[in-house]
Amino acid sequence: MNPTVLAFETSCDETAVAVVRGTEALSNVLSSQVDLHARFGGVVPEVAARAHVESIRSLTHQALNEAGVHPADLDGIAATVGPGLVGALLVGHSFAKATAWARQLPFVGIDHMEGHLMAPRLQFDDFAPPAIALLASGGHSQIVHVRDWGDYEVLGHTIDDAAGEAFDKLARVMGLGFPGGPAMDAASDGGDPAAVAFPRALPDRPFHFSFSGLKTSVVTYINKAQKSGDLPPLADVAASIQEAIVDVLVNKTFKAVDETGARVVGGGGGVLANRRLRHRFAEEADKRGVQVALPDPVLCTDNAAMIGVAGAHWLSHGRISDWAENVDPGLALT
Ligand code: KG4
Ligand code: ZN
Repeated sequence: MNPTVLAFETSCDETAVAVVRGTEALSNVLSSQVDLHARFGGVVPEVAARAHVESIRSLTHQALNEAGVHPADLDGIAATVGPGLVGALLVGHSFAKATAWARQLPFVGIDHMEGHLMAPRLQFDDFAPPAIALLASGGHSQIVHVRDWGDYEVLGHTIDDAAGEAFDKLARVMGLGFPGGPAMDAASDGGDPAAVAFPRALPDRPFHFSFSGLKTSVVTYINKAQKSGDLPPLADVAASIQEAIVDVLVNKTFKAVDETGARVVGGGGGVLANRRLRHRFAEEADKRGVQVALPDPVLCTDNAAMIGVAGAHWLSHGRISDWAENVDPGLALT
């Protein structure tokens, strides 16, 4: 059974609505709030929640229209239940529950990180357990052994900052703007990733990450190089910082591939949109003859199609959330 699901994602600063049938996105629309938050240098929770309220209705109409699906054709409704900003989550989750209630449709709340984890299914039929997935976003960085859908072994995670957070903080240090990941990605164009040897943290812990020390070493390096007048070109510094983050993400992910013997490796979360990371993923997978399942960048960053594919999966397995379900800002993948 391939249920047709209307899905909502409002955990942070994107209001996103999609219609998904089974593993196929029939529509996937979003309204980004990046410009609203950019002048504050980060996401302002109250501003995010209000902006979700303003755009969710029209985006729902747009998603249904683009999919050519009438509400009467829907089999269920899904929404992100957590983790995320509580006010932001409440908008999508409440709107979804109310719509489901009014239409007498089953509703299922979806873990945002499981959404990222299932996003590759929208484009790769053979992304199936057992698999390794790297999830790296603004709030999370983890390597997951997907033993089965719903049976996730988190092999490692960050002990301080998430990879996306590191990109955002380091881009701010370099004056590149917000959000920092795409800015660092662009600034590194033509740069030499080996120009500056920034440290790679936690070499002795196979699957855990630590990114907070990188900021200190970048700030120290830039101050020193500026004083002595030998600061390399911006592209070289950006490419070297990016490499320090990408290197550990890729090496540890493929160590997990080697140790588990997984034949497919995927990923999700905004950091997986990074061009250097995608290139390194392809190289490492080629060496081992394993398949890479990295969805297009728009499906790596926050979107509702990923919530729809997870929603369709769980609804077709009979999972339905209680009407009393509440959002859970601190939800963790288990
Ligand atoms: O998954 P996501 O869209 O939202 C969260 O759930 O957090 O991830 C956002 C994060 C931000 O930290 C952003 O800087 C980072 O993903 N990001 C990138 C790139 N695009 C987005 N990091 C590196 N390179 C990119 N191209
Ligand atoms: Zn996300």
